[in-house]
Amino acid sequence: MAVAGSAIGLGNFLRFPAKAACYGGGAFMIPYFVSLLLLGIPLMWIEWTLGRYGGGYGHGSAPGIFHSIWNKNRFIKYFGIIGIFGPLVILIYYTYIESWTLAYSFYALTGKYSQIASQSGMQSFLRGFQGLENNQYFHGLGAAYFFFLVTFILNITVIYYGIKGGIERLCKFAMPLLFICGLMLLARVVTLGAPDPAKPDWNILNGFGFLWNPDFSALKSARVWLEAAGQIFFTLSVGIGVILTYASYLSKGDDVVLSGLTAATTNEIAEVIIGGSIIIPAAFVFFGPADIRAIAQSGVFNLGFVTTPLVLNKLPLPQIMGFIWFSLLFLAGVTSSVSLAQPAVAFLEDEFNLNRKKAVFIFAAATFILCQPAIFFLGKGVVNELDFWGGTFFLVLFAAIEIILFVWVFGMEKAWDEIHKGADMSIPRVYKFIIKYITPLFIFFILGMWFWQEWLPVILMKGVSIQERPFILWTRICLLVIFLILALMVKSAWRKRKMQLEMIK
Ligand code: ALA
Repeated sequence: MAVAGSAIGLGNFLRFPAKAACYGGGAFMIPYFVSLLLLGIPLMWIEWTLGRYGGGYGHGSAPGIFHSIWNKNRFIKYFGIIGIFGPLVILIYYTYIESWTLAYSFYALTGKYSQIASQSGMQSFLRGFQGLENNQYFHGLGAAYFFFLVTFILNITVIYYGIKGGIERLCKFAMPLLFICGLMLLARVVTLGAPDPAKPDWNILNGFGFLWNPDFSALKSARVWLEAAGQIFFTLSVGIGVILTYASYLSKGDDVVLSGLTAATTNEIAEVIIGGSIIIPAAFVFFGPADIRAIAQSGVFNLGFVTTPLVLNKLPLPQIMGFIWFSLLFLAGVTSSVSLAQPAVAFLEDEFNLNRKKAVFIFAAATFILCQPAIFFLGKGVVNELDFWGGTFFLVLFAAIEIILFVWVFGMEKAWDEIHKGADMSIPRVYKFIIKYITPLFIFFILGMWFWQEWLPVILMKGVSIQERPFILWTRICLLVIFLILALMVKSAWRKRKMQLEMIK
C-alpha cells in the first residue's frame, strides 16, 4: 500500500498527460508501453529485491544498500548517492506543485475560479497564482507561498510521525475515492462532444486519437524515448531510490514479486486509464492540438491546472467536485512526497546514527531552503530544469547502475533466487532473459542515444532564452553542489564506521 501510495501521485494525473501532450500524444505512447514492460516492471522487482537484501544489513538508502551488495568495491557507495539526490531534487519542486492542488481545492470550494470559462482566463488565473503576472485574481506570490508553507509543514509532520498510522489509514479511503472521482470526471469528459461548432474536428474522439493514434515517425528521437522511460520511472517511483528504502523494511521471507507487480498495476490503471482520459481529451476539445502542446511546453504541470478546472466547471455541483478532485490530488501528492523524503531521512538515521527527530529537522531545514528557487524562479524555467535532471535523466542513470549491480555483480542465478524468496507467484521465465539482456541494453541504448543526440545542446543550453540562461546555469551549479555535499557525507559516514570497527577490533 505504501509503495502504491508513493507511485500514485501528481505524476499520474498531471505529469503524464503533460509529457504525452508535449511529445505529440501518439508518439509518446509506444515508447511508454515498451518502457513499462521492459524497464518499469523488471526494475520494480529489482528494487524490491535489492532493498530487501540491503535492509538485511541494516541499510535503508542506496549508498549502504549498494555497498552491501558489492562490498569489495570502494566506489559503489558513491553511485548510490543518486538514490538520495534524485528524490531530493524531485521533492524540491514536487512539494510546491502539490501545494497548488491544495490551493485549487480551496479556490474551487470558494468559487474563486468558477466564473472562468475560457482557456485564456484559466491560464491567467494560474499565472497570477504563480506570481508570473499581477491580474484581477492575484497580486504577488503571497497566496501561493502561504499554501506552500502549509503543504511543507504538513509533509514534515507526516514524515516526523511516520507514515504507518495516519497516512496509510487515510489512503484506504482516499485512494478509492480518488478512483471514483476520476471515473466521474472521465464520464463527463467523454460526453463533452465538440463544444465549438466552428471547430467540429475538436471533438472527443479526436481527443482520444491525439493520445492513441500511433506516430511512428517520432520514434527516431532519443528525447522521446528518454522522456517516456523517465515518466515510467517517475510514475512507478523506480530509479528514484524510494522503493529501495521502503523494501529495506521488509523481512527476508516477505513477498516482493506479487507486491511489486500489484503496486505497478495499480499505478498504471490510475495513470493510463484515469490520468490519460481526462486532461488530454478535454484539452483537445477546448484548445485543439496545437495549443495543448503549447500549454504543456509552458510548464510541465500547467496543463492540469488549466484544463481540469474548465472540465470541472461543466459538472453538476462544480465547486464541490473541484474541491474533491483537487483535495484528493493533494492527498495522492502527499503520499508520494513523503516517500520522496524517506531515502534522505533513512540515510541520516542509518549512516549517521541520528534519531528520527534530528534527522527530520536537518532534512526539513535543508529542503526548505532548496525549495525557494522553484517558487521564486518558476517563470525562469527552473522547475522544468529540475524535472529534467531529477525527474528524468538521473532516474534512467540510476536504473542503469542498479541493473549492473543486480545482473553482473549479484549474478543472475543468485538474483533470480533472491527475487523468488517468499514469493507468492513465479515470474514468467522470459523475464529472466529480459532482465539479463533486454533491460540493460535498452537502458544503455537510450542513454547512449541521448548522449549522441542531445548532450551538447543540453549542456550548451541551446534553445534556452537569454533571460533564462543564468537561472538554468545557477540551477545546475546548485545541483552539483548538492551532489558534492552528499558525496562528502557518504565519505565521512564510511570513514567513521571504519574507525569504529577498528576500535572494536
Ligand atoms: N511516483 C510519484 C508520482 O507519480 C512520484 O507522482
